[in-house]
Amino acid sequence: MPEPEPKTFLPEAFFEAPIDCGLILGSGWGDVLRPETVHAEVPYADLPGYGASTVAGHAGKLLLMTLAGRRVAAFCGRRHWYEGCPMDQIVWPVDCLRRLGVRSLLLTNAAGGLNPDFAPGTLMVLTDHINLSGISPLRGPLREGWGPRFPDMSAVYDPDYADLLAAAGGPATRRGVYAFSVGPAYETPAEIRTWRLLGADAVGMSTVPEAVVAHACGMRVAALSCVTNAAAGISAKRLAHAEVLAAAEAAKPHMAETVTRFVAAL
Ligand code: HPA
Repeated sequence: MPEPEPKTFLPEAFFEAPIDCGLILGSGWGDVLRPETVHAEVPYADLPGYGASTVAGHAGKLLLMTLAGRRVAAFCGRRHWYEGCPMDQIVWPVDCLRRLGVRSLLLTNAAGGLNPDFAPGTLMVLTDHINLSGISPLRGPLREGWGPRFPDMSAVYDPDYADLLAAAGGPATRRGVYAFSVGPAYETPAEIRTWRLLGADAVGMSTVPEAVVAHACGMRVAALSCVTNAAAGISAKRLAHAEVLAAAEAAKPHMAETVTRFVAAL
């Protein structure tokens, strides 16, 4: 069944002028942005094909805002593979942004640090990723507007955007490779040791599906991880979701400033 056109479910404000940038923000980070104006707010429940999930606890909203003088469409909260939803649903925001004509995308996530230099609180600009899931969001019939059947993935993360994002994050911002782990269990120390050998600096349960589709569609993509914890076995501590959430909460102001400065620099 073809996707309904955004005009049929989004308010008029989305179509009044071009949108400069799309954001897909890990849950919580949308709340701390300080936009000049919010033009429209759409709960995910009102987005056909996206809001239909019955998984509890994943409310979210799409905001159209003016942030740092730019028109920005921000998906606040995302769906994850571990929730059991299909890939089409996970990448739905990317396809929606594509249909809105958005050409620039910033993704954010929380991640565990494999690189021993990346203490909790470190912001890491993605230079590349390793898809450990064995699944591709591009599997299935080639969809119109999604680029070629076999898209190049040599530079998923736009190098110029990575420079802007690193500058926006300040001198302590690091760069590195993100490994996509399906979750929802955190990793074992043996997995983390192996993935470190493969070249991963951080590990998380999101972002890669969205980045792959956006890049295949021809968008310029940037992505930012907030390291919330040392990955399993990197420190002697066991992992606790509450601590991951607390570290993400503590990093909110820095994340918001970084996102805002990046958008301003576009
Ligand atoms: N592993 C996977 N995903 C995560 C982690 C982690 O250690 N921390 C935050 N998201």
